[in-house]
Amino acid sequence: MIGLYFSGTGNTKFCTEYFLDSVNPSAIAYSIEDSRAIEELSKHDEIIFGYPVYYSNLPKIVSDFIVSNSDLWNGKKLFVIATMALFSGDGAGVAARLFENYGAEIAGGLHLEMPDCIGDVRVLKRTYEKNRAIVEKTKKKITDSAEKYKLGKPTREGLNLCYRMAGFLGQRLYFMNKTKSYTDKLKINPVNCIGCGKCANVCPMNNIDVICRKAVPKNLCTMCYRCVNVCPEKAITLIGKRVIEQHDIKKYLT
Ligand SMILES: Cc1cc2nc3c(=O)[nH]c(=O)nc-3n(C[C@H](O)[C@H](O)[C@H](O)COP(=O)(O)O)c2cc1C
Ligand code: SF4
Ligand code: SF4
Repeated sequence: MIGLYFSGTGNTKFCTEYFLDSVNPSAIAYSIEDSRAIEELSKHDEIIFGYPVYYSNLPKIVSDFIVSNSDLWNGKKLFVIATMALFSGDGAGVAARLFENYGAEIAGGLHLEMPDCIGDVRVLKRTYEKNRAIVEKTKKKITDSAEKYKLGKPTREGLNLCYRMAGFLGQRLYFMNKTKSYTDKLKINPVNCIGCGKCANVCPMNNIDVICRKAVPKNLCTMCYRCVNVCPEKAITLIGKRVIEQHDIKKYLT
């Protein structure tokens, strides 16, 4: 067994590792950005696959990973974890259907509420105490789900038709285009940017160049919010106009 995940800002990494640790403490979780991920995937048949939902859909980097490795899913048994700030309908179901198209068996699904990672929109922001409580509740939910998995009765959140209708009517119908392709909407304020390069170093898409001590975005952003959350000058925005809170899961784990 292995874990595979994409995590923009740490929530999904934490959840996938926590689940894996509860089920099989010797198993290792790999980011899909890790150069060893494909080789490890081909060596294992039981996979815990985690990602954050974006508009009740897959981040483009995740759908591209699944599609570009389509020949590797046949015969694999996958348990799908979707993290979210509030609601996703069929968050786990979106990837599950794709995996099934490529011959995988879906063992189960799990939806996990976590702090909101969107640094420049106020809507889902909560207090520190509330976020801590959410993380504690999610840890308990992961432990319970892992127990069921070990007993051979895995949870199946996000996988049936009701979840699918909720995901489609609740969000995907209106936001379908948001995750269809990479975006060119990332904005970096050149006045505030000090050219430290932190954003470029963390970007999973290599979407930022630092030219003459100023960060310049390209058009291949997967909207993960990592750069927005690490910029020391709060110079980067994507959906909103101003950075409100730089999310860091570590704040809620100590
Ligand atoms: C572009 C974008 C869209 C999102 N859409 C949703 C959504 O539809 N529903 C939801 O509950 N959370 C949504 N979120 C919040 C994330 O799914 C959530 O914070 C997730 O746990 C972040 O995981 P990460 O830290 O592993 O990147 C969205 C986040 C981003 C960046
Ligand atoms: S992290 Fe912020 S300050 Fe540093 S290069 Fe990127 S945009 Fe500029
Ligand atoms: S530019 Fe920023 S938000 Fe976009 S993919 Fe890179 S790190 Fe993520």
